[in-house]
Amino acid sequence: MDSLRQTLGSFAMVALLFVSFIFLYHWSFPSFSTQLLLSHNGPLCQQQSNMSSNINEAYGDGLDKALAKASMGNNKTVIIAIVNKAYVEQDVMGDAVTMFDLFLSSFWLGEGTRSLIDNLLIVAVDQTAYDRCQFLRLNCYRLETYGVDFGGEKIYMSQEFIKMMWRRTSFLLEVLKRGYNLIFTDTDVMWLRNPFERLSKNETEDLQISTDVYLGDPWSEKHLINTGFFFVRSNKKTISLFETWYGKKDNSTGKKEQDVLIDLIEAGIFGHLGLKVRFLDTLYFSGFCQDSKDVRAVTIIHANCCRSITAKVADLKATLRDWKQFRRLEANSNVNINWTSHEWCWVSWGRPNRTSLG
Ligand SMILES: *[C@@H]1O[C@H](CO)[C@@H](O)[C@H](O)[C@H]1NC(C)=O
Ligand SMILES: *[C@@H]1O[C@H](CO)[C@@H](O)[C@H](O)[C@H]1NC(C)=O
Ligand SMILES: *[C@@H]1O[C@H](CO)[C@@H](O)[C@H](O)[C@H]1NC(C)=O
Ligand SMILES: *[C@@H]1O[C@H](CO)[C@@H](O)[C@H](O)[C@H]1NC(C)=O
Ligand SMILES: *[C@@H]1O[C@H](CO)[C@@H](O)[C@H](O)[C@H]1NC(C)=O
Ligand SMILES: *[C@@H]1O[C@H](CO)[C@@H](O)[C@H](O)[C@H]1NC(C)=O
Repeated sequence: MDSLRQTLGSFAMVALLFVSFIFLYHWSFPSFSTQLLLSHNGPLCQQQSNMSSNINEAYGDGLDKALAKASMGNNKTVIIAIVNKAYVEQDVMGDAVTMFDLFLSSFWLGEGTRSLIDNLLIVAVDQTAYDRCQFLRLNCYRLETYGVDFGGEKIYMSQEFIKMMWRRTSFLLEVLKRGYNLIFTDTDVMWLRNPFERLSKNETEDLQISTDVYLGDPWSEKHLINTGFFFVRSNKKTISLFETWYGKKDNSTGKKEQDVLIDLIEAGIFGHLGLKVRFLDTLYFSGFCQDSKDVRAVTIIHANCCRSITAKVADLKATLRDWKQFRRLEANSNVNINWTSHEWCWVSWGRPNRTSLG
């Protein structure tokens, strides 16, 4: 009798543990993929992260080959997007279209953007993302990080997420050190026109970076930068910038790399290193925080100022619909269009629905 009770007791115990595990898993995963796609807004790290454990890095010949291929015909300049499982996997959030699908669609639907696919290097941080990239026949590079599995373990993702962001900074530093200029793009950025035609070609400009809201003066350090899209030239000054930035990894507990860069800018790093930095006008390099005023000029649209992946996907779909409508109209007239309001992103902040308010 007693042993039966004990058996039942331990069975209940095991069941309880199992249920809690399932709960934790489901509870933490959506918040992981959401955070992954946030540009810089939102509660990033509630947990204290131990950054002193060093990221183990290894690149090898594979990286040189990948960079040489992706920069072909583009003067040692590559376009880099970093993806993991959460970006590429179908049905992650019960939505048939992934952010990565929309990202690639934009290159197809954009004006003069199709050939840029050849210069795009997809950096996959886990096997699922790499397999998806290979399947699509893109330029793919598998970024290995020993001792950290960016695709698997989910319970401690907050910490893993921050680590992954720092991993990105160290990877971009490595690309600069190898002599390549780069455009870094998040995958929630729609490429509607060729950005190289709008970025300054002046080689004295070391970094050109997107902003949430443009203040009118391209040299003003008062801008709130957004690291979701930037063009950086490879030289000693930019390498120092990335080294200094990455050097803060162990002294920035709970801070995202973008916030660390913002702190460095406030502390005057650009002047200190003699960097010439252009802050990009949202007329061309726009986002949901500030729509481009002219669809005839817009180059990129970033789903910034948005809190969840579902909201981003829904509103980016509407943006691409607007764009397709414009391309149809464009054939016979010189019209501008009004962007559909980013309703899903708006309510993602817990604000009342503007449509229903009339
Ligand atoms: C952080 O990691 C280092 C090295 O792995 C370890 O020595 C240290 O005790 C850890 N600190 C905390 C607070 O976990
Ligand atoms: C390519 O880059 C080099 C070095 O930055 C520069 O001197 C040259 O003018 C560039 N060529 C073109 C076609 O942009
Ligand atoms: C690039 O910018 C520098 C500094 O503003 C300027 O002196 C130079 O004339 C520019 N070069 C070109 C080719 O426009
Ligand atoms: C870490 O940051 C604190 C405060 O910002 C500063 O006083 C300290 O010197 C920094 N430590 C290192 C090792 O950079
Ligand atoms: C866009 O909105 C403005 C002001 O709300 C309106 O005057 C204009 O006609 C609209 N344009 C189009 C193409 O719908
Ligand atoms: C906002 O409200 C309208 C009308 O009630 C509804 O059709 C729409 O789906 C809502 N949008 C969001 C993002 O909730």
